[in-house]
Amino acid sequence: MTISGSFEAIHVDFLVLGAGVAGLRAARQLADRGTVLLVAKDAVAESNTHYAQGGIAVAMDGDADVALHLEDTVAAGDGLVFRPAAEALVNDGPLRVAELIGWGARFDREGGEWMRTREGAHSRARILHAFGDATGAEMGRALREQVRTHHQVRIAERQMAVALRQQDGRVVGADLLDENGQVHNVRAKATLLATGGAGQIYCETTNPTVATGDGIALALHAGAELADMEFYQFHPTALHLAGAPRFLLSEALRGEGAQLVNERGERFMRRYHSLLELAPRDVVARAIVQESLAGDFDHQQKIYLDMRSAPGIVWSERFPTISAELARYGLSLSKDRIPVYPAAHYLMGGVRTDLAGRTTVPGLYAAGEVAATGVHGANRLASNSLLEGLVFGARAAEAMLADSELLPALSKDVIFDSEATRKAAAEEDLRFAAECTPRMQQMLWSAAGLFREEATMRRALAELETMAAELQQRCRACMPWREGLEAMSITVVGRAVLECALARKESRGAHARLDHPKKLPEYENRHTLFSLAQRVHFERW
Ligand code: SIN
Repeated sequence: MTISGSFEAIHVDFLVLGAGVAGLRAARQLADRGTVLLVAKDAVAESNTHYAQGGIAVAMDGDADVALHLEDTVAAGDGLVFRPAAEALVNDGPLRVAELIGWGARFDREGGEWMRTREGAHSRARILHAFGDATGAEMGRALREQVRTHHQVRIAERQMAVALRQQDGRVVGADLLDENGQVHNVRAKATLLATGGAGQIYCETTNPTVATGDGIALALHAGAELADMEFYQFHPTALHLAGAPRFLLSEALRGEGAQLVNERGERFMRRYHSLLELAPRDVVARAIVQESLAGDFDHQQKIYLDMRSAPGIVWSERFPTISAELARYGLSLSKDRIPVYPAAHYLMGGVRTDLAGRTTVPGLYAAGEVAATGVHGANRLASNSLLEGLVFGARAAEAMLADSELLPALSKDVIFDSEATRKAAAEEDLRFAAECTPRMQQMLWSAAGLFREEATMRRALAELETMAAELQQRCRACMPWREGLEAMSITVVGRAVLECALARKESRGAHARLDHPKKLPEYENRHTLFSLAQRVHFERW
């Protein structure tokens, strides 16, 4: 059943916020044991999952392969992976992928065998893909089929969670803002955040516009702890054309032989890492920025992905989605060098959870990109994110089912605040939020992007705090409106990123400080935690 537009206050057993792979996987399992409301901020198919191209990393060749996948994940994470989380990922992975195949996901095959590609920092080819470069879209399709047809699932599209509701310290549901500006109360025994990442805190991102970090802001205000917020992954190769969106050019292109070249046609990765284009993602991203600044030119040197010399690949068949997108700009993988530059792609940090998706607030769970289990450490291994969504979506569902069995039935008499005294946002409020957002995105890109230093981060933090105070005042006085709330989420996530990045006085994984360029042993396995009560502190996991 699909709910479109407005609906009355409802009671469900389980509330799932977010319809990417983690939310869908959890909803599928929860629905066998209770009623589920699955909430999508936009159309149900619009999420980071949908845009994931390259594939899903999974060890399909038994224990030795699983052990190697673990070691690759730990090595890419640069001294910060929480090993039990990575073990959960690689051990549960094959079962979860097999289950998804049983539910109809069509990964690419050749001669009866799964096709597998390699990406950066993988010691072997273990990445399954679907329709060439539409892996996330296919996984989302298969999972949506499962939940759409389930009689216990309702899907609410174009609804944004604006607050989590608590009773005696426990999360008991959320308020949802619909596309007509109406707010609705939902009551649930357990609430899952599967709201994805926050690439929209930056002006350069591969993420869709829905990725404003709302789930992180909601959790923080409900008292939850965040972890590892300084670690934002910048994908090395987003399409870099003036006026075009930063479309992802999958790492699988490099896995299949694409080279990175500068304006002189030099394969410059030779000077940066022995694994060349397949070095860990953070290394390649920084090398591109450094190289772009290092030309003998008085302008920023352009960097290109060059597929033209890779033998034996029909690029338009292997990468149909990318080929179609490039064709819109008159570019072809087989004939042209493609201009690229890094863009924000994936948040390694997020809402702190245990290995079963429990946050530090009872009744509230998190899985997928919004969550921080420590599985990725300081730098996520390529194509581990779709697997993370499947594995930890299932684990969170198990915990929600187990915990809710112990709960007394929810009373029906929760009193929600009345919004009646609030006015609609005025023209000037709307304009203020609309102007703030690009300013914050630009500022965070400069201060908390690929290279960071104290003075710039402190200036950005001060400016962000001023904007946050003004936004909060305007938002508090008005009926909730989407752009205002999204701008607020950006201030909240941006501040957490900056404060954690200031606290980590070293360079590790995706966090590179010009003023602290070395990796320091005293920070190994020490994670930043961030909460409204305590701001930043470190903890060893
Ligand atoms: C890609 O296809 O390069 C993205 C996959 C990922 O983010 O791991």
